Amino acid sequence: MRPLLTSVAFIATSFSLVAAPSFIVDATCSAGNVSPKLYGLMTEEINHAYDGGLYAELIQNRAFLDDTKSPMNWSVVNDETSAATIALDPATPLNEKIPTSLRLTVTQATADHPAGVANSGYWGIPVHSKTEYRASLWVKTENGFAGPITVSIVSDDGRTVYASAKISGLTAEWKKFEVTLKTGNVAPTAQARFEITLNQPGAVNLGLVSLFPPTWNDRPNGLRKDIMQMLVDLNPKFLRFPGGNYVEGNKIEDRFPWAKTLGPIEDRPGHACCWGYRSSDGMGLLEFLEWCEDMKAEPLLAVYAGYSLEGGKIKVGADLEPIVTEAVDEIEYVIGDTNTTWGARRARDGHPAPFKLNYVEIGNEDDFERTNTYDGRFGQIADAIRAKYPQLKLISTIPDAKLDGRKADMADYHDYSSTETFIKKSGNYGADIKRNGPEVFVGEWAAHEETSVPPWNEGSHKLPPTPTMKAAIGDGVFMAAMERNSDIIKMQCYAPLLVNVNPGARQWRPDLIGYDALSAYGSPSYYVIQMFSRNLGDEILPVTFANTSIQGCATRDSQTGEIIVKLVNPELTPQALPIEIKGVTALKSKATVITLSASPEDTNSIRRPKNVVPVTTTLNGVKPGFNFTMPPYSVVVLKLKTR
Ligand code: AHR
Repeated sequence: MRPLLTSVAFIATSFSLVAAPSFIVDATCSAGNVSPKLYGLMTEEINHAYDGGLYAELIQNRAFLDDTKSPMNWSVVNDETSAATIALDPATPLNEKIPTSLRLTVTQATADHPAGVANSGYWGIPVHSKTEYRASLWVKTENGFAGPITVSIVSDDGRTVYASAKISGLTAEWKKFEVTLKTGNVAPTAQARFEITLNQPGAVNLGLVSLFPPTWNDRPNGLRKDIMQMLVDLNPKFLRFPGGNYVEGNKIEDRFPWAKTLGPIEDRPGHACCWGYRSSDGMGLLEFLEWCEDMKAEPLLAVYAGYSLEGGKIKVGADLEPIVTEAVDEIEYVIGDTNTTWGARRARDGHPAPFKLNYVEIGNEDDFERTNTYDGRFGQIADAIRAKYPQLKLISTIPDAKLDGRKADMADYHDYSSTETFIKKSGNYGADIKRNGPEVFVGEWAAHEETSVPPWNEGSHKLPPTPTMKAAIGDGVFMAAMERNSDIIKMQCYAPLLVNVNPGARQWRPDLIGYDALSAYGSPSYYVIQMFSRNLGDEILPVTFANTSIQGCATRDSQTGEIIVKLVNPELTPQALPIEIKGVTALKSKATVITLSASPEDTNSIRRPKNVVPVTTTLNGVKPGFNFTMPPYSVVVLKLKTR
């Protein structure tokens, strides 16, 4: 076992007032290699992360399956002289996979007084200036009614039509129509809805109605550009998906149904998401994988392991075999040759080349399963995966599990703690990690300002959806601790990543990135993660910090010789810190300093997205021993050039 103190010596948490503070970076040696995959992302469908978030679809309840009793999120459009009714029509299913449609019956309408149906999107349809939207819908009529029907983006009060197109040629058979809606020069707003109207009496059935704005890399079933840009800016090396609890589902039948998430969107019925709403599954297995490609991050795939949140579990042995097959098939979809069943399916779906995959996590938080069946479940699933894919590294969700004699290559630790707790434990963090055990994955973590209210509790909704600077300080000390130990902590990711900030949209706080229909913003924690992940060497340098409450870490870029020091000041006052870089004879006198500093309660929001952001400055007079004053309540990255 490697003694931890070779990488960090945290000498005093309660320090004497007379002893001088010090922060020493030992550049004479390296305490190991920084994991090149240290910084990644974790996501799942929670807080409308995909539907109403990253997944760019604008129509909520596009398949009319969100509620079996009424067409949720759809409403009648009419005025004093026009009239219409809408109803779910399971007797007229769109297809075998989508067993219903919406019946729109217009009894009174003219060109000046149309009637129809409207969808209010995910807390509004975002209208952007001079933008092309792709609308698609399936329509079926009776009695020779051929249209036209009009699809449009209209202001909530019905007075402004932002974009509109006519569709004719309706038939008695289901037929798909696609039109482009182009907005003019308008002020952005989300006070808008999507309408389908008739200008004469008639009845139509509507199936799978979809509306997309421009997407990242122009993928037709793609992702929202502004949120993607924020994710790419975090420089993530991996993406853990599809959960989290989302992989498990509340019930066994609600587990992430990867095979049903493939193919055209009109073949995807969606499924009940464990966070209280239905997922459209527009964000399917292929979309997750392409999302990874688009971010140049590798997938960290979590497979269902036979345990669901409400306690449903599948017996090890014959009962678990279908789940084992599901997991192995899912991996085949990701990396199988095109001559395998699922590799061929991937090719048919438009991606013949296998994706890159190194890590597979078996389950999620299986220690919540009180009867300890994980050992056997992990064993059976791991044996089958290893028999076919021996190159894959398998992750266990219970760090100390016995796993029926099998070994996990990596273990997933989750840590949601208060800022105070992270400050207390981060100085010595890692002392108890076995260096000869499985590699460490901190697959979910976040500092919470408020731990008296559970993050999923309604009470937490009184707090802003995204964290304050207080949480960012906790995040900073914890990330410094993980970076110091990144010889064994190979990967880590904050959770949850995304939140739609509209009332009623969220189930958990705090979350890293907030958004509504129109715009997105990063929390102070987002910027701390960005500062850490974008400024990283490949060698861990041992650091010793004494007589100070400042914590930190250091790495060196072996190519350029640059030494990157990260420091966190949890005090509300500035702190003078003598910094010594041992083993370096000279440093360039100018260094780059990136600083995030604010009051504990300061945060960002839709209205003030850049209230707390990092500032880059130049520091002069840098030498191997120099004094640096940490601003109050701050996270700082110092980039020191050795040549
Ligand atoms: O991140 C939110 C939830 O916290 C995850 O779904 C679950 O794994 C954890 O309990």
